[in-house]
Amino acid sequence: VEQTFIMIKPDGVARGLIAEIIKRFEQRGYKLVGLKMLVPSESLLSAHYGDLKDKPFYPGLVKHISSGPVVAMVWEGKAVVSQGRQMLGETDPLKSKPGSIRGDFSIDLGRNIIHGSDSIESAEQEIALWFTKDEIVNYTLPSHSQVFERVF
Ligand code: GTP
Ligand code: MG
Repeated sequence: VEQTFIMIKPDGVARGLIAEIIKRFEQRGYKLVGLKMLVPSESLLSAHYGDLKDKPFYPGLVKHISSGPVVAMVWEGKAVVSQGRQMLGETDPLKSKPGSIRGDFSIDLGRNIIHGSDSIESAEQEIALWFTKDEIVNYTLPSHSQVFERVF
């Protein structure tokens, strides 16, 4: 079963969007299997955003994401990595369609309120980076017999 790492950034938390974002994934039929709130350290963020270290916006990015609490989540379900990205919208909120999370709630690249893994491989790496194995919960949602033709 596919899993993805979704993080509500400090601007999303500060703007009171936690419930709205969780609601969208729940309503779509995805299952929340990991959830915690933390202020991420700069060392955690340097591992998380390692591929962006040489970008001019990197220092500002780490400063912002470590500036306050984030909500780190693992969501599970069919095609959740690619569909999660669709639900987020584009990196630049101005290119995000209305109906997407960024398209509905943000306008600035540096304050785009949410992160989502961009591939199955990065999802696996990010989940392992942010969560221990025993923080990921294995359970059955009864509603999934109506969400999926065949429950996996
Ligand atoms: P994430 O889901 O947050 O990883 O976004 P993404 O995968 O759509 O974009 P990427 O991983 O390339 O960049 C990570 C984050 O850095 C983005 O979400 C933006 O907040 C920020 N970022 C990316 N490009 C720029 C930029 O050109 N300027 C600024 N200020 N921030 C940027
Ligand atoms: Mg990214």
